[in-house]
Amino acid sequence: MHLTTFIGVVAAVVCLFRFSDAANVVVINPYLSHSHFAFVVKLTDILADEGHNMTMIINELDTSKFAPLPKKARVVIRSKFSSNPFVNDATDQTFWNNGNDLISSSKIFEQIITEMNAQCERFFVDTAFVESMKAEKFDIALIEPTDFCGYGFLKLINVTEHVNVIPMALAEKLALALGIPGRNYVPLPVDDYGTSASVVRKYVDPNFHMNDAVGHARFTFVNTEEHMDFPRPISHKVIYVGGITVANSSADDLPEDYKKIFDSSKKGVVLLSFGSVAKSATMPARMKQSFLDMFAAFPEISFIWKYENVSDTIADELPNVFKKTWIPQPMVLAHPKLLAFITHGGMNSVMEAGHAGVPLLGVPLFGDQFRNIKMLEYRKSAVIVDKNDITSEALISAMHKLTDDDSYRTHARTIAALARTKPLSGKQRFIAYFNHAVQFVHAEDHLDIGHRKLDTFRYYNLDIFATFVIVFAIIAFLLLKTILTIFKLISSTVKVPTYHLKKTD
Ligand SMILES: *[C@@H]1O[C@H](CO)[C@@H](O)[C@H](O)[C@H]1NC(C)=O
Ligand SMILES: *[C@@H]1O[C@H](CO)[C@@H](O)[C@H](O)[C@H]1NC(C)=O
Ligand SMILES: *[C@@H]1O[C@H](CO)[C@@H](O)[C@H](O)[C@H]1NC(C)=O
Ligand SMILES: *[C@@H]1O[C@H](CO)[C@@H](O)[C@H](O)[C@H]1NC(C)=O
Repeated sequence: MHLTTFIGVVAAVVCLFRFSDAANVVVINPYLSHSHFAFVVKLTDILADEGHNMTMIINELDTSKFAPLPKKARVVIRSKFSSNPFVNDATDQTFWNNGNDLISSSKIFEQIITEMNAQCERFFVDTAFVESMKAEKFDIALIEPTDFCGYGFLKLINVTEHVNVIPMALAEKLALALGIPGRNYVPLPVDDYGTSASVVRKYVDPNFHMNDAVGHARFTFVNTEEHMDFPRPISHKVIYVGGITVANSSADDLPEDYKKIFDSSKKGVVLLSFGSVAKSATMPARMKQSFLDMFAAFPEISFIWKYENVSDTIADELPNVFKKTWIPQPMVLAHPKLLAFITHGGMNSVMEAGHAGVPLLGVPLFGDQFRNIKMLEYRKSAVIVDKNDITSEALISAMHKLTDDDSYRTHARTIAALARTKPLSGKQRFIAYFNHAVQFVHAEDHLDIGHRKLDTFRYYNLDIFATFVIVFAIIAFLLLKTILTIFKLISSTVKVPTYHLKKTD
């Protein structure tokens, strides 16, 4: 009897879990940049593989400009109209020419904010679309919080539970929103993230605040890796999933032309790529010349250069330079003869190189790239050359450091080994924690740090310090007053001998 009851309970629990395992998930993926978008696409496909019913909502996207959509999810694009600063050649030039600081990047940020706000407004006034999505009755959302529009949309379609997925490291503002104290060793220059807040306040919720929206998430999945990033306090809600986009690639699968480059190079190969946003072909001429001088200074090293303009004859006279418009980057990084990777430091490239154990020569151009490269400089596997100080000498000296001194490679390999063999990979963590959030989607939030709801005064313990200072002042005052009273009492009862102080005056 007891046994059958027990079996019955177990069966019921197992059933409950099975049924609740597959969720109807809505993914809010604003198109802010290629890399952010692609990261969320990748995570969406992973959850679809796990059996979840995934629907990705994209407010505006011109698919003729950007192709890789999720393969296993339903994709709903509200409108094709979109003018994104990142798919615009003028912005590409800005990456090479502007300064490293936020101020000089602010022109791009301004464009992004204006554009995302306008997109968000068009999203909210499309009530037919909102109603059709509300009818879907999604269980939980996966949201990329660099743009806040999605939080407003979730409220409109009555989806109360969500997880955040961050395609970058943990930005300071975000950490504070989650109630996590302390500071990043190097703050993210994209701290001032989060567009569309004013639009959400206007159309959805006048009391909208990013801290509530971000902090309410069941989990916040962050695209960084603890052995590569700066150590810092996190919370139970923050799950590092860095490496989740890194394919398990082998150099054996390289195309023949690449195999030939590796086989024929005397000392080894260096990969040179600035990612998908900034193009090598649009680099200012003086920078190109500095790279050409560096190629010439290392004739025994072969350079594979991602160069987008096929009709350009640049470097054709150098036998150790191989220009390619597209590169099978993970396979190239996996080759044991790869000596170094010259990169802009986009998070995906940094994670790929970090997991492959390849030393980096970083030339960060924009946004979080400065911090991404600094992480690996701190881990002693990267050298940084400031884009405004690119000269032949600077590049040659950095290349000498990386190729003459074995320590960069040793450090890079150690970090890669740690990251690859840690108990739970980024992908395993992501799946396990997401499924857990789904299973208990309507449970009370037990992991929220109450701290985050404090105002600045209390957050920094200023109330305690202020009380302490006031009490101390009162005690000091009373003590002084008592001493003076006692002194007066003594001087009035005892005949104090007059000192001859005045004589010395
Ligand atoms: C998956 O989602 C689609 C769209 O919301 C819906 O039509 C379908 O019934 C869902 N399937 C399951 C098994 O939930
Ligand atoms: C929102 O969804 C909840 C269930 O999650 C439901 O109880 C509530 O009635 C819905 N509200 C509206 C306005 O649709
Ligand atoms: C990666 O590939 C290697 C060799 O093929 C294999 O041993 C390992 O299990 C793979 N790792 C993952 C995460 O697939
Ligand atoms: C490609 O390079 C050629 C030769 O230098 C040049 O004439 C052309 O304008 C370049 N095209 C682009 C799109 O930059």
